Amino acid sequence: MDERPIGIFDSGFGGLTVVRALLDLLPDERLVYLGDTGRYPYGPRPAEEVRQFSVELTSALVERHDVKMVVVACNTAASVALEELRARFRVPVLGVIEPGLRAAIQATRNARVGVIGTVGTIASGSYQKMAEVIRAPVNLHCAACPGFVEFVERGELDSDQVHVLAERLLAPLCDRGVDTLLLGCTHYPYLARTIGDVMGREVVLVSSAEETAFDVRAVLVATGLGRPPGDPPLHRFYSSGDVGHFAAMGGRLLGSEIEVAEPLVC
Ligand code: DGL
Repeated sequence: MDERPIGIFDSGFGGLTVVRALLDLLPDERLVYLGDTGRYPYGPRPAEEVRQFSVELTSALVERHDVKMVVVACNTAASVALEELRARFRVPVLGVIEPGLRAAIQATRNARVGVIGTVGTIASGSYQKMAEVIRAPVNLHCAACPGFVEFVERGELDSDQVHVLAERLLAPLCDRGVDTLLLGCTHYPYLARTIGDVMGREVVLVSSAEETAFDVRAVLVATGLGRPPGDPPLHRFYSSGDVGHFAAMGGRLLGSEIEVAEPLVC
């Protein structure tokens, strides 16, 4: 048994979708969340820069917060930095690419799976690579959705503008006849209503959050690192941007109050 918290990071609010799943599945665990809102979006940045940010954030979690495990709750960061983080840090480091893909494989009936993500995620080819590694019995159709993350960060989840953008960006996937759409960016579940409207009811939307939480639980069980039930856990949230905005909007997105967000100095 291990009292230390689980560390989670993302470029901004998106990783809160994974936090929600962790709170639901592992209510005894303490969580430390780093949202790099001061430097979002990661999607358009060069891979090397995203790798460098990922190392900085993981170092902060391990060295300053003494976490027992790190969850890279950002597809862009996981796409380009996961292997390096695993090589550099001693704690288990989990990503969101493989769990999301597994969930999509379970959901599809016609083996045609759409994957949407940031420009960085789609350009990295991380989903195709993972599909080869796990011999996924599906055809992937990938599309970048630049602009979606910015709408979420502004709290604009259901506006006419985001709808128009979604129609334009998702049209090629509708044409491909996918029956499942993997939301390959942790921000995108917050746009599920808009994305679902555009794709149509028969297309199943899959998030990586729940499957990632199952992976975290499996690692805790396998390593004996789980926190024993007892006092309710305290969670801490940090933002490299405006902490007041992070607490207010983060609480709204998470669906439970974030009493205070603390400054994250990168
Ligand atoms: N949540 C991040 C992801 O999953 C968003 C990246 C960004 O900031 O562009 O890719």
